[in-house]
Amino acid sequence: MTSPNGSTTNLSADPAAIRRSFDHTWATLSPIGRDRVSGGYNRFPFTAVDLSLREWFTAEATKRGLDVEVDRNGNQWAWWGTPTSGAVATGSHLDSVPGGGAFDGPLGVVSSFLALDALRAAGVTPVRPLVIINFFEEEGSRFGLACLGSRLMTGQTNPDTARALTDNDGISLADAADAAGIRAQDMGHDADALAKIGVFVELHVEQGKNLVDQNASVGVASAIWPHGRWRFTFTGEGNHAGTTALVDRRDPMLPFATTILAARSIAETHDAVSTFGRVRVDPNGTNAIPARVDAWLDTRAADEASVSGVVRDLSAEASAAGTAHGVEVEVSQESWTPVIDFHRPLRDRLVATLDTAGISAPVLPTGAGHDAGILSNAVPTAMLFVRNPTGVSHSPREYAEEVDCVDGVIALAAVLTDLLTSPAETVTAGQ
Ligand code: GLV
Ligand code: MN
Ligand code: MN
Repeated sequence: MTSPNGSTTNLSADPAAIRRSFDHTWATLSPIGRDRVSGGYNRFPFTAVDLSLREWFTAEATKRGLDVEVDRNGNQWAWWGTPTSGAVATGSHLDSVPGGGAFDGPLGVVSSFLALDALRAAGVTPVRPLVIINFFEEEGSRFGLACLGSRLMTGQTNPDTARALTDNDGISLADAADAAGIRAQDMGHDADALAKIGVFVELHVEQGKNLVDQNASVGVASAIWPHGRWRFTFTGEGNHAGTTALVDRRDPMLPFATTILAARSIAETHDAVSTFGRVRVDPNGTNAIPARVDAWLDTRAADEASVSGVVRDLSAEASAAGTAHGVEVEVSQESWTPVIDFHRPLRDRLVATLDTAGISAPVLPTGAGHDAGILSNAVPTAMLFVRNPTGVSHSPREYAEEVDCVDGVIALAAVLTDLLTSPAETVTAGQ
């Protein structure tokens, strides 16, 4: 194979061997954190399940002779070669949303280990180290802030704010991290760790049907839609469900109901998507009018003005509905990720490398957030997507065909071969 800058490698991946290895590796990871009834995954940071996932990662690295480090923010790094600055980094995350699928995150980690195997089998001789990273709390399912491991490392989240985040049981991130053996006081911007990454490529299952529509097993990311999370708090008056006349109620559930419906219609107006997927009702009793409802809005669109428009209009609608029901409404932003345009020369390089390897990879944007998006503010970053036949994600029904997963490994191996064997100045050219 000849890379775009002219260097030659002898990568000739064996799909049957990759498939066997994929089956085996996937089978060792699959049971961890799976709900036996729904088949969905509950993999949250700093839990017993997370500890098992970390042990799995260490075992996969160790059996390949890789050294594993845990950085100040709890991310795991498995090194092929001596840790130095400017390494080629790949990987993804092992945590899940509540009741999530098997592929979102783990496909990238498993594919990274198998791509390394393919490189070794092909006798690739890297001129810089390769590191496989498992980022912590990518989904923000336990502490509410997505991509926490990469945000902390790159200094995009204040560590004091992160340490004070709490889960649904009121346990702070600081206490949970300390209990899991990650020193919370050390968390924060880690320039030394970041300097070790010369370039980052994340492989991920597609969370949509673009690749189905384009009849391709693998794609390359162009951009990530801007997105954010807002907390809507409706405070009314708790009271008895049987003895309180309708006219005497200050029921926070009512303006919330109006707000849910408005989120849909306002999103349509702005060509955006909006979701209330998480609600907390206090006290959450069948025969009690709630005193308070907290609900989290997730809004995304192709451009930032549309997202701001949704939040502005929806806040006004919620506030008017609150006034009509004697309920106070507060809206606060909990996270914001601006539009990400991936490093154009690197993206073009991936497309050219894949083309040379006989893989025609369309370029596509995504509405999903990723650690690659956070890292792209600091280092040249790219993403590969693997076809998802239904497009379903964040659900136990999330899926990718094994043959496409093998294509993903072959594509990642081709890209890594190019990046590991080319002169440094060409790898990061055009930043
Ligand atoms: C993560 O997958 C997200 O897009 O929220
Ligand atoms: Mn996800
Ligand atoms: Mn993911």
